[in-house]
Amino acid sequence: MLDQWVTDDNDITEIRHAHLLPFRKNRRNADTKLVTDTWHATCGKTNRNIRRSNKEHAVTLDLILRNATLPDGRRGVDIGCADGLIKTVGPALDASATQEIDVGERLVSSPFIDPHFHLDSALSLGMPRFNQSGTLLEGIAIWSDLKPQLTQDAILTRAQRYCDMAIAQGLLAIRTHVDICDDRLLAVEALAELRQRIKPYLDLQLVAFPQNGFLRYPRAAENLTRAIRRGIDVIGGIPHFERTMADGAASVRALCEIAADNGMPVDMHCDESDDPLSRHVETLAAETVRLGLEGRVTGSHLTSMHSMDNYYVSKLIPLMAEADLRVIANPNINITLQGRQDTYPKRRGMTRVAELHAAGLTVAFGQDCVMDPWYPLGSADMLDVAHMGLHVGQLTGRDAMKFCFDAVTSNAARVIGLEGYGLAVGCNADFVVLDAPDPIEALRLRATRLYVIRRGKVIARTAPRVTELAVEGGPAVINIATYGPNLG
Ligand code: FE2
Repeated sequence: MLDQWVTDDNDITEIRHAHLLPFRKNRRNADTKLVTDTWHATCGKTNRNIRRSNKEHAVTLDLILRNATLPDGRRGVDIGCADGLIKTVGPALDASATQEIDVGERLVSSPFIDPHFHLDSALSLGMPRFNQSGTLLEGIAIWSDLKPQLTQDAILTRAQRYCDMAIAQGLLAIRTHVDICDDRLLAVEALAELRQRIKPYLDLQLVAFPQNGFLRYPRAAENLTRAIRRGIDVIGGIPHFERTMADGAASVRALCEIAADNGMPVDMHCDESDDPLSRHVETLAAETVRLGLEGRVTGSHLTSMHSMDNYYVSKLIPLMAEADLRVIANPNINITLQGRQDTYPKRRGMTRVAELHAAGLTVAFGQDCVMDPWYPLGSADMLDVAHMGLHVGQLTGRDAMKFCFDAVTSNAARVIGLEGYGLAVGCNADFVVLDAPDPIEALRLRATRLYVIRRGKVIARTAPRVTELAVEGGPAVINIATYGPNLG
């Protein structure tokens, strides 16, 4: 664990990382220089700011984060952790710890969560060819060509590499859809193994995803049964890819019944289409109510809602609220894959995020794809995803921007039913320390993840982004994170 880097001296039990200085606007040369020097001093195990413990402290913890700003706006908060859990949250904590980090009023959040991803295809860009049209259907065709060439080891290696990147970005839980339309179920095997292997660092949830259609692919039902036996977590679907609207609705009914029979949640790719008459979400909500699955069913994408008639939507959203449906938009993918048949104006394609949120539904943002047949970009950065969602949804009000941060943290955790998530006493001691003073600034900056902490241990650390400048009369070095307005 990285926290072992800081000292081997058993007498030293309290550690201050002074490179995280109090966050002030427009800090000039001298301060910024100090940030640089002390960061490198710390990484070089020559931290001059280590001091000895106060033996009078009554409580000894594993970790204390000092002087944090929380996403809800609380400032000057200390968070004490032991045994992998949050033990206390409040100002001026009178306790000592094996490791203390003074975060200097920076934002401390629970980790980022990606509620919708495809880990089996991640990092496969260009295999066996690039998607020249950029369309969803060419992406599916490329993936179908690649599937026979896949091996379990190759899937595992790519997925593990992606998880390394995710951890570095403070992304510590991923719900991944896993294609079950490969009769070998290699991806299920590979990702089930990875789920166990990566568990100390990152939570993986596996969704059985019939990419080629639950009714359209001949052995999808049989493969789903095998995947459930192998320990898949969630039932998936893709009703808009079935041959007919009727088949799509039938697949929703069948899959919800399988979920109910097995006591499992549902998360379907649903209406990922520009067709305003693609209304499978209506069936999904109705089946949720019929089977008593309220709060356990998620509609992913729902892009057809972007193009639906407003009167119909005025009936649909209350039905979705009645079913307590969870909603995931995937802004990076929706803005690039939808509207491909349009000339001008070109539709954005993202579902009605603001309206669904206003109606009380839990709405989250997912990443969907990174460097695969459907999307050539991405870097496991959920702030990048939220930033895109903010723009595509024109969510630029203060509360709306805060919602965008929630959409990749607390809302996403709620959608996937992640236990122990949050900043309250008793929650898991999982955090990301961001080089930003609040969630909106974190979004603006796609802020550097200074520390990523899992169960009270530092598992990733990144230096502040400091740039040397050669501008006459200007500062010698700058960190753009210190240039934000002080909105206090
Ligand atoms: Fe997806």
